[in-house]
Amino acid sequence: MLEIKNLHVEVESKKILNGVTLRIKPGEVHALLGPNGSGKSTLSYVIAGHPKYKVTAGEIQFEGKNVLEMKPEERALAGIFLAFQHPLEISGVNLFNFLFQMAKTRTKSLSPIKFRRHVIDNLEKVGFDESFLDRDLNVGFSGGEKKRTEVLQLLLTNPSLAVLDETDSGLDRDSLKTIGKAIQALRSPKFSALIITHYARLLDYIEPDYVHVMGNGKIVLSGGPEIIEKIEKNGYKDVFKK
Ligand SMILES: Nc1ncnc2c1ncn2[C@@H]1O[C@H](COP(=O)(O)OP(=O)(O)O)[C@@H](O)[C@H]1O
Ligand SMILES: [Mg+2]
Repeated sequence: MLEIKNLHVEVESKKILNGVTLRIKPGEVHALLGPNGSGKSTLSYVIAGHPKYKVTAGEIQFEGKNVLEMKPEERALAGIFLAFQHPLEISGVNLFNFLFQMAKTRTKSLSPIKFRRHVIDNLEKVGFDESFLDRDLNVGFSGGEKKRTEVLQLLLTNPSLAVLDETDSGLDRDSLKTIGKAIQALRSPKFSALIITHYARLLDYIEPDYVHVMGNGKIVLSGGPEIIEKIEKNGYKDVFKK
């Protein structure tokens, strides 16, 4: 499904990723933890195709295709969904229209009335009421509401791979539960996810198959969910101690 091999990435001539290797099979959920500045968001931007991040070595394949040769929109159409740590605000485009335009890139003949009904069916899963649909995208939304917008997009997109960058940041305990359960409900043999998180709290609701810890642009530890417990208890210091 997703195969990242020995990925080296620079931003403005500064080396950020130093050989990341990661393989996610269909149906698997992987968690990526790590302290601030370790390169987690950089990895998600590179998967998305952000032009600022230069790949100097290594490769990314998705379903056997070379992702690095695809345009960002081609990656999305191929089934890769990304939720960014800092979602965009767009004045003058309401949430419904934004979602509708997004869905139309996949289904040209989509009916707005039917689609609105479909959206309304999913609003409850992220804890939104209908009034949010008529508000400008993320403008004046709280941090937690922006994250709910991202998860709503995820539910409506039905991708084969989701990369979620700190979708849990800014969420209170109840919101975390709502969002965690909504993501957990997507688990299926056809859905894979890379859940990037600074804290491990979201993982109370989504049990990952594998857990990786990033430090200084590299994966320094991989294993099962037991790693989460260790980090919750002792922070990252034991992981980085040689
Ligand atoms: N656009 C950028 N310009 C300069 N430095 C950047 C840029 N993006 C990321 N970095 C640097 O790369 C490092 C990793 O950042 P990031 O990937 O955001 O880490 P994380 O998501 O793990 O906190 C940091 O030192 C950060 O300052
Ligand atoms: Mg980050």
